[in-house]
This record gives sequence, structure tokens and C-alpha cells, in this order.
Amino acid sequence: MPDPKSVATALDSSAAARDQSGYVGVGIYNGRRTYNFGALVRTARVFGADFVFSVGHRNPTETSSVRAELTTPVFHFETLSLFVASIPANAHLVCVELAADAVDIRTYAHPPRAVYLLGPEDGALPGDIMRQHDTVVLPGAYPLNVAMAATVVLYDRLLKRG
Ligand SMILES: C[S@@+](CC[C@H](N)C(=O)[O-])C[C@H]1O[C@@H](n2cnc3c(N)ncnc32)[C@H](O)[C@@H]1O
Repeated sequence: MPDPKSVATALDSSAAARDQSGYVGVGIYNGRRTYNFGALVRTARVFGADFVFSVGHRNPTETSSVRAELTTPVFHFETLSLFVASIPANAHLVCVELAADAVDIRTYAHPPRAVYLLGPEDGALPGDIMRQHDTVVLPGAYPLNVAMAATVVLYDRLLKRG
């Protein structure tokens, strides 16, 4: 029969690991291409994100090619301020952008509870929001497709946080 103390210790450490894993949201501001939003929903499901969102009017009610939106919650916000006001109180907003002052993602310690915001295909995130929150940049001399950038962010998080 297993020792009750070691069972209790194992349960405690698995609860602690679960608490540390936090949660993740990922989304696009003012996205233009419906298929990119669909790809984002798909990558979110693959990497275990807890929810996906879009901000702005141009967006996409697009579905992913594998119907990932049926198991991943998808939110739409009309404006950036409505989105910011809706971020869970215990989460960090992390901007993902090719910005001069951004932190190289390779050195970035992802917060346990993080909401990642990416910019539009034909633009960038507003400077104001980047100044007020962490902003990370991915390696490479040229911009990635927005859904691919989201994939890299989620993969980097997975490598560092499990
Ligand atoms: C296609 S990019 C924007 C392209 C850019 N405005 C241009 O045409 O030069 C769309 C979004 O993907 C994200 N992104 C792409 N490459 C990135 C990188 N190397 N580092 C951080 N974010 C990136 C950013 O959120 C960006 O706003």
C-alpha cells in the first residue's frame, strides 16, 4: 500500500505545478486577413492557450480550418480600451512587436498569467500600449506573418514554462 505521506506530497507538488502554469490568451489588434485569425485560433489550441481574441472592426469572424474555435473560447473587442479593461486583473498584457525598445523574447521570462497582443498585417501596435506594458520582439531581420509570430511566442513560452 502506498505511503499516505508520499501520496500527499505528490498531490501537493502537482497542485503547485498546476498553479504555476497559469493561463494564456493570445490575439490580434486590428487584424486584416481572416485566414490569419483562423491560423491563430489553430495555433492557440495546439499550444494550449486558454482563449483567443481579436480587437477592432476589420476582424474576422473567421473559423480555423480544423474547427479549433469549437473548443477554444474566442472573444471580440470593438476597441483597444475595451480590450484592456477586460484583461483579467491577475494577468499581464504582453505586446509582441518589432519595436526598438522591445525585449528579445529569448531573454524574456513569461509571466504565469499572460495575454499576448499582436499587431495588424499592415501596421503595428500603437506606441501607447507598448509603453505601458512589456513588449517582446522575435529574432530575425524581417517581420513574420502574424499567426506565425504568435506560434513562435507560444512555443517560446512552452519551452520556458512547460
Ligand atoms: C506582418 S507583421 C506587421 C508587418 C509590418 N508592419 C511591416 O509591414 O513591416 C504583423 C504582426 O506580427 C507580429 N510580428 C511579426 N514579426 C515579428 C517580430 N519579428 N517580432 C515581434 N513581433 C512580430 C507583430 O505583432 C506585428 O504587428
